[in-house]
Amino acid sequence: MAPQGEDVIVPDRKLEMILSMKGGNGKGSYANNSQAQAKHARSMLHLLKETLDNVQLKPASEVPFTVADLGCSCGNNTLYIVDVIIKHMIERYEYSGYVPPEFSAFFSDLPSNDFNTLFQLLPPIAKGSMEECLATDNHRSYFVAGVPGSFYRRLFPTRSIDFFHSAFSLHWLSQVPESVQDKRSPAYNKGRVFIHNANEQTANAYKSQFQRDLAAFLKARSQEMKRGGSMFLVCLGRTSPDPTDQGGPGILFGTHFQDSWNDLVLEVIMIHSSSFFVYIPSLSFKWFADNPFRRSCRIHGLITSEKRDTFNIPVYASSLQDFREVVEANGTFRINKLEIFKGGSPLVVSQPDDATEVGRALANSCRSVAGVLVDAHIGDQLSEELFSRVEHRGSSHAKELLEQLQFYHIVASLSFE
Ligand SMILES: C[S@@+](CC[C@H](N)C(=O)[O-])C[C@H]1O[C@@H](n2cnc3c(N)ncnc32)[C@H](O)[C@@H]1O
Repeated sequence: MAPQGEDVIVPDRKLEMILSMKGGNGKGSYANNSQAQAKHARSMLHLLKETLDNVQLKPASEVPFTVADLGCSCGNNTLYIVDVIIKHMIERYEYSGYVPPEFSAFFSDLPSNDFNTLFQLLPPIAKGSMEECLATDNHRSYFVAGVPGSFYRRLFPTRSIDFFHSAFSLHWLSQVPESVQDKRSPAYNKGRVFIHNANEQTANAYKSQFQRDLAAFLKARSQEMKRGGSMFLVCLGRTSPDPTDQGGPGILFGTHFQDSWNDLVLEVIMIHSSSFFVYIPSLSFKWFADNPFRRSCRIHGLITSEKRDTFNIPVYASSLQDFREVVEANGTFRINKLEIFKGGSPLVVSQPDDATEVGRALANSCRSVAGVLVDAHIGDQLSEELFSRVEHRGSSHAKELLEQLQFYHIVASLSFE
């Protein structure tokens, strides 16, 4: 019998208890599939440094300068950014004629993040003075702690953090809006696993969830940040005012990934009054053709349509306006900069003409960020099946994927006075 996805592991656990990027160092891991984020982050370093220039220096401070990276995940990106932040601040202190303070860096993410892999990547702390430390390659000049928890709630003591950084994380919602999963609601996202091209009610439910979440994020940070501190935030954004047009993320989760879910929902409908079948869609019907009961029973696919419809990617690419409304309503931060920035493609391929490589990059890219949620919803085996279909479909549309799949980011530089 075809698997129906009964091996589902965690149907009711809260999203924040299961969400993480794919850990470890495997081919689908985030650590090995985050070159695009690394590239996009590097293209925004000048904006990060401008934000750091807004942080008020506190001369001869006995207390450490504290940096927190929220949604750090596991991989080199967070280590690289924290290093940039601390080196820039040391330069600023020295340029102003001050002795730099000690530095503390907090790496924060949800509890299921692979902190072990991250901590194993950490360079050892340098011994000796700050100068010696800066002169020593592959050493760090800061103390470290991991902070598990949701950034939509309090993570740090009151007025304890000088600088918050968060990249490519705030588009993850705290939950899929309840109405989107409620069959009786007009916002029920029937037939889809993302809001791209969904109905208006579904999109509005996502938008409200995003704005509530961002409001909670800002409220928590406004309590934790020291006066004179700053914050640099980057998350997926969109250029269209219409939330059902999610742009690049819409192509990532709303086309080949969506079609691959539909493949799993193979449904064969037998028309009793006649002698032929109508069937809806699948790449392969071999297992069906081999089934001796095919003429007498209705045969479902690898998963039911309801199983697909209860899976939704909890991501929202916000417009600048959606984002601005929340920052302004919060009112505690000065906006230094709030703009939309072209990030480029999430697919990093060495040979763009090789359709197989493009397909693999698409599947790995989807899997490194959404694989853990898919595994939790349909189990490892079906998840494997799903992503191999994404790869296959991606290879067949390699050229247009490379042309059309472009990400935009919202970049916010905020200060607390
Ligand atoms: C795409 S990764 C970004 C990683 C890293 N900042 C980078 O630049 O490569 C997004 C991260 O956000 C985290 N995240 C999502 N929702 C979160 C939440 N509510 N609280 C804390 N972290 C969250 C995910 O677990 C994931 O590790």
